[in-house]
Amino acid sequence: MKERESFSGKLGFILSCIGSAIGLGNIWMFSWRLGQYGGAAFLVPYCIFVFILGSIGLMGEFALGRSRKKGSFGGIKEIFKEKNLPFGSIIATIPTIGLTGILIFYTVVVGWIIRYFYASLIGTFNKVDIPTYFSNFAGTSSSIPWHALAVLLTIIVVTLGVTKGIEKVNKIVMPALFIIFIILMIRSLTLPGAVKGIKYLLIPDWSYLLKPITWVMALGQAFFTVSLTGCALVVYGSYLNDDIDIPSAAIHTVIFDTISALLASFIIIPSAFAFGLDPTAGPALLFITVPSIFKMMPGGNIFGALFFLSIIFASVSSAINMMEGPVEALMHQFNWKRTNTVFIVGLFSFIAAIPLDLSMAKFGAFSDFITVYISPLGAVLAAIAFFWIYGAEKARIQINKGSAKPLGKWLEPAGKYMFVSISIIVLILGIIYGGIG
Ligand code: PFF
Repeated sequence: MKERESFSGKLGFILSCIGSAIGLGNIWMFSWRLGQYGGAAFLVPYCIFVFILGSIGLMGEFALGRSRKKGSFGGIKEIFKEKNLPFGSIIATIPTIGLTGILIFYTVVVGWIIRYFYASLIGTFNKVDIPTYFSNFAGTSSSIPWHALAVLLTIIVVTLGVTKGIEKVNKIVMPALFIIFIILMIRSLTLPGAVKGIKYLLIPDWSYLLKPITWVMALGQAFFTVSLTGCALVVYGSYLNDDIDIPSAAIHTVIFDTISALLASFIIIPSAFAFGLDPTAGPALLFITVPSIFKMMPGGNIFGALFFLSIIFASVSSAINMMEGPVEALMHQFNWKRTNTVFIVGLFSFIAAIPLDLSMAKFGAFSDFITVYISPLGAVLAAIAFFWIYGAEKARIQINKGSAKPLGKWLEPAGKYMFVSISIIVLILGIIYGGIG
């Protein structure tokens, strides 16, 4: 057996986790949910959920991976085996299958974003009707080459491995993303008319706190945005040395993820107001409203290209984590070489997504199936395996290893009862509401 790869240190690890966490959820989903569910009022449930549940969930996933030096599949299987529980191998595949499902549809969207980057760069949006442009391209075969490019970029990074690929790329693109976001936010906030958007975001409509939907959406958002899937961050955790402070890494991931979501909102919403566009346009926000903003903005080509470049950074660094999940599982199970495994996973995920390239209806059905059922189920199963079957006390000891300020006994019921039951609630609410994350 070759020695297991590992992150070179805390910085590389945290930046990689931030890279995973910051993705389309922060930019695409957070902005319109913030506007739609009461502006600043939405931040109340969101922050409660992401800081409390998000950080406990992350600590659990990191420590599950690190304690076994195995990813989700190997780790969960081993826990079941130790306790002589049946069906361990089958249950252990679910989080990895969920993550592979996310990889499949997410890279399709990354392809759209790469195309939008290119189109902004060459000034296409100045010449076309944007809604028509989008509908002539998404859901048709012309998105396939861009999708292939997205998969290829991801393959290249994952092939290079943990330190030379994943960590190195995140160390470059994450700081770059924050710099670009700040530049764009300044541009957006200084547009004439942006004030209305700032008010829209900052003046809370407290009545939304009385509506259950606000809490439900905040909960779903909090889980998705920090990549709680029972696999993605377990795998990153499995490359972690015992001297790294897990609680601190978890809280840093949550903080930077939240900052990036707020920055994205302060880029998109005020500029939408400045140009009289509808900021609650839902998912169309990113592919129709945003390019329309840049079309009207002086210097829009450059700012638009910068914007889509930063979204490429955000989404590819998430896709890398999604691909590393199944790659690690197969390498572990079959003792395959990294290069071959990455190639197989990349090719499989690309081919599996072609029907989604060709039909928006299929895209919607597949992404809903994965994000409503499989991936939240994976998160629940990993949390049960760690906090219940392995045991809450041992879990706390693993989480505290290498920590400057070890967390107290409270973590045990917090993980075992609170986190696990709320994860189950996320799963059930997702099914009731038809998707919340
Ligand atoms: N957290 C990412 C986002 O907000 O877009 C989505 C994600 C990334 C989910 C990585 C799962 C994952 F493994």
